[in-house]
Amino acid sequence: MANSISKLAYQTLQQGKSIAGLAHKQLSTRLMELVAPEAMPGTTTVSAELMNELRASITALQDRDWLEAEQGIYPTELLFEAPWLDWLSRYPLLWMDLPTTWERRRDRNVRDLPKQTDTSLYPDYYLQNFHHQTDGYLSDHSAALYDLQVEILFNGTADAMRRRVLAPLKRGLRHFSDRSPSSLRILDVATGTGRMLQQIQGALPHSELIGADLSAAYLRQANRWLNVSNKNLVQLVRANGEQLPLADQSVQAVTCVFLLHELPANARQNVLNECCRVLESGGVFILADSVQLADSPQFSSAMDYFRKTLHEPYYRDYIGDDIEARLSSAGFDGIHAESHFMTRIWSARKPVANQI
Ligand SMILES: C[S@@+](CC[C@H](N)C(=O)[O-])C[C@H]1O[C@@H](n2cnc3c(N)ncnc32)[C@H](O)[C@@H]1O
Repeated sequence: MANSISKLAYQTLQQGKSIAGLAHKQLSTRLMELVAPEAMPGTTTVSAELMNELRASITALQDRDWLEAEQGIYPTELLFEAPWLDWLSRYPLLWMDLPTTWERRRDRNVRDLPKQTDTSLYPDYYLQNFHHQTDGYLSDHSAALYDLQVEILFNGTADAMRRRVLAPLKRGLRHFSDRSPSSLRILDVATGTGRMLQQIQGALPHSELIGADLSAAYLRQANRWLNVSNKNLVQLVRANGEQLPLADQSVQAVTCVFLLHELPANARQNVLNECCRVLESGGVFILADSVQLADSPQFSSAMDYFRKTLHEPYYRDYIGDDIEARLSSAGFDGIHAESHFMTRIWSARKPVANQI
């Protein structure tokens, strides 16, 4: 009985998030049409067939999310966890931010970053307003809005997609089952505001967690969410995923979520190489990013819409990229991939020494 009520509560919550996300997108598009028509992206009609595909795959994602909680891969409470009050209090900021977003889109101004940015600290590809967002990734203002923006973009499914990392992560860590959970180190590359680490913290509360990202502002936000109460302290490091400040073979698992599509091809490969370098032999790597044309051709117009509506300069190249080949070239084997709604999850292993 209690279980059925929790499941109903979960489904209702997801439905509510989905309706809120759709309503926000519709309202903001109408407002843009009215006050900034020049910023409107070319219209793309969403066919009934695509809508049905999207709905069915959201339902499948939510069923899987519930099932894996029931199986004990993570606690059911994680399904309800979010800084709701905080997000609510920040919501008006999203609306206040829209006019400058439209201005940037209209003017094709994609290098509108805070004046004080020390550009020598970042690769050139990073110094852009991804998604047309104010300050790119380079301010507390941007970090404060990011989680809400992502939730709205994915109609409230962002965390459910991130949680698809947890089952293969836990499976992969069985390789070290003779060690104490607290001796296992897990690194999340491009952790942003730490939503992936939050899910990992729920599923693997005793492991040592490290988050790396290029944005100090996003890491400050992650610190606010993660390093609270009596949970294990999470280490947060400002670093380029292409040159991680970690020793060879120093972690047992690496995750990397929603980064690769924002990188040019060579940086994509560099990041994968680094993930392999810092992993101990036998360690597991879980990569999550947008689905691609080859595995999800039914979503090609949704991918096109994403690329045209939001500033995503490397997305077109990414959706045609051969990630399996890149993983092999980085040194991984045992590569497996599956898709959940708009996210593809790859799991791979660093071969143990005598298998190399
Ligand atoms: C789309 S966000 C994803 C954040 C987070 N993983 C999530 O699940 O929401 C991309 C993140 O990658 C970071 N990033 C981009 N290029 C990077 C690089 N070369 N090295 C480290 N972080 C990078 C950005 O600062 C941003 O936080």
